[in-house]
Amino acid sequence: MLGCLLRGGCGPVVCLWTLLLPLVSLHRLNQHGLRDHSVPDRPKLLLVSFDGFRWDYVDRVPTPNFHSLMNEGVTVEQVENAYITKTFPDHYSLVTGLYAETHGIVANEMYDPTLNRSFSMETDSIYDSRWWEEAVPLWVTIQKAGGRSGAAMWPGSDVKIHGLYPTQYLPYNASVSFETRVERIIEWLSAPKEEAVDFGVLYWEEPDKSGHSLGPQSPRMDAVIVDIDEKLGFLINELKKARLYETVNLIVTSDHGMTQLFSDKIIELDEYVSRDLYTWVDKSPVVGILPKEGKLEEVYSKLVDANPNMVAYKKKDIPEHFHYRHNIRIMPIILEAKEGWTIVQNRTAPFMLGNHGYDNTLRSMQPVFVARGPAFRRDYVKISMRSVDIYPLMCHILAIHPLPNNGSLLNVKDLLSQQPTPSTPSIPPRVKEYSYAPVMGSFFGVLMVVGFLVVYIRQVTLKQLPSLKHRSREMSQPLLQEDLHL
Ligand SMILES: *[C@@H]1O[C@H](CO)[C@@H](O)[C@H](O)[C@H]1NC(C)=O
Ligand SMILES: *[C@@H]1O[C@H](CO)[C@@H](O)[C@H](O)[C@H]1NC(C)=O
Ligand SMILES: *[C@@H]1O[C@H](CO)[C@@H](O)[C@H](O)[C@H]1NC(C)=O
Ligand SMILES: *[C@@H]1O[C@H](CO)[C@@H](O)[C@H](O)[C@H]1NC(C)=O
Ligand SMILES: [Zn+2]
Repeated sequence: MLGCLLRGGCGPVVCLWTLLLPLVSLHRLNQHGLRDHSVPDRPKLLLVSFDGFRWDYVDRVPTPNFHSLMNEGVTVEQVENAYITKTFPDHYSLVTGLYAETHGIVANEMYDPTLNRSFSMETDSIYDSRWWEEAVPLWVTIQKAGGRSGAAMWPGSDVKIHGLYPTQYLPYNASVSFETRVERIIEWLSAPKEEAVDFGVLYWEEPDKSGHSLGPQSPRMDAVIVDIDEKLGFLINELKKARLYETVNLIVTSDHGMTQLFSDKIIELDEYVSRDLYTWVDKSPVVGILPKEGKLEEVYSKLVDANPNMVAYKKKDIPEHFHYRHNIRIMPIILEAKEGWTIVQNRTAPFMLGNHGYDNTLRSMQPVFVARGPAFRRDYVKISMRSVDIYPLMCHILAIHPLPNNGSLLNVKDLLSQQPTPSTPSIPPRVKEYSYAPVMGSFFGVLMVVGFLVVYIRQVTLKQLPSLKHRSREMSQPLLQEDLHL
């Protein structure tokens, strides 16, 4: 039967098929991220992070560019990010949908007892792939499915992970201007179809840097926020100039917020426990303490009631809701400062006026989230989500199967302009533009014809054949109905 159809041996059937094919293509195929000649491109997504952009900065000073995205797209007011609320862990959570204990980048400064290695965001240690390979970032997953990605300075995006770099990327260099990063991303997104990236990630160091040095309460932060808004305006303008603004889905978010510190809110560990008894692994406000061999109980007992503004947890007692326990890189004791407090060994350590890293349920630790584009609703405000939900959302938009993760598309599907369709998302392999649509078209066409014939034969016995258009729409439902995995 199928063979007969494919050889074109059944005259009337081929005729029906020819009539049905355009309807099928228009009606369903595009939603599978497939290319045909009636739509321009597969879905594109650009994820932007302004480091340390707290959720409420958009209401602190005029930020017309953020507000135009909010009016034309979606805003989420409360984004609970992953603990600890630091740059490397949270950026990796965004692109993996995993809590830090699972993706393995548990802090900006780490020690791995199995590797007997240290990781510091300030050294080349970050280029050791082994730190990153407990998870697979979205750019790698897309490339393994035949798609393309482009990265401008996103943490980890210039590291080879599971054998791959992003298709296009810039090696990390803080001196490269925002404008240059944007220009490169635009080039990659607007390249000829067979080279264009589907997924872009763009990172900028501010307002984090100024937030640390000035403190978020400083009036001088106003100008920093205005500058970020202008940078966003530059990005929007470049997308418009490249005719990408109406097709690219744009997410603008951050890794964490920022809170004010005070010079009289300092906890000096040297007052409580000798440095000879432990190794100091990560920095304030969540300090990883690695007791020397056999010294766990002694160190813990000295720290547990040491200071009312600091909590000491043995690893097994770290609260469940932090999802921050099950990884060998999480130290046997962690110290968590209360908001606004700083933990140091002694006061000669440099002091900052702003910091983050604290409890992820604190409002001050939470990042901004706005998104706009064909996949998103317009002028819609959602109260809350978790940052790990962004990963399944992005996979849905890019029509790619998410890897196992801690987020849920169900939690965030109200952000979408079209509710998830009952189809299985996947990026098809890259096939030359011209051979592609006919192949898929034929496949669905054959499916349609088989379905059509079944119904036709039934209908003929009832002596009633409804209009072709009407039937094809009805029939496309059961044929393509599959379970919706959220
Ligand atoms: C861990 O590495 C350090 C050098 O970085 C070395 O001195 C030490 O002996 C190593 N420890 C183990 C258990 O291999
Ligand atoms: C980093 O970027 C700056 C500005 O573009 C450039 O002058 C410098 O050479 C770059 N550094 C490295 C190591 O590539
Ligand atoms: C404070 O710590 C530094 C090293 O971090 C050390 O050089 C200095 O001697 C310490 N000062 C005091 C008073 O203990
Ligand atoms: C997060 O997701 C990973 C992968 O599915 C899973 O192994 C882990 O248990 C999840 N964590 C939580 C807290 O559910
Ligand atoms: Zn950060």
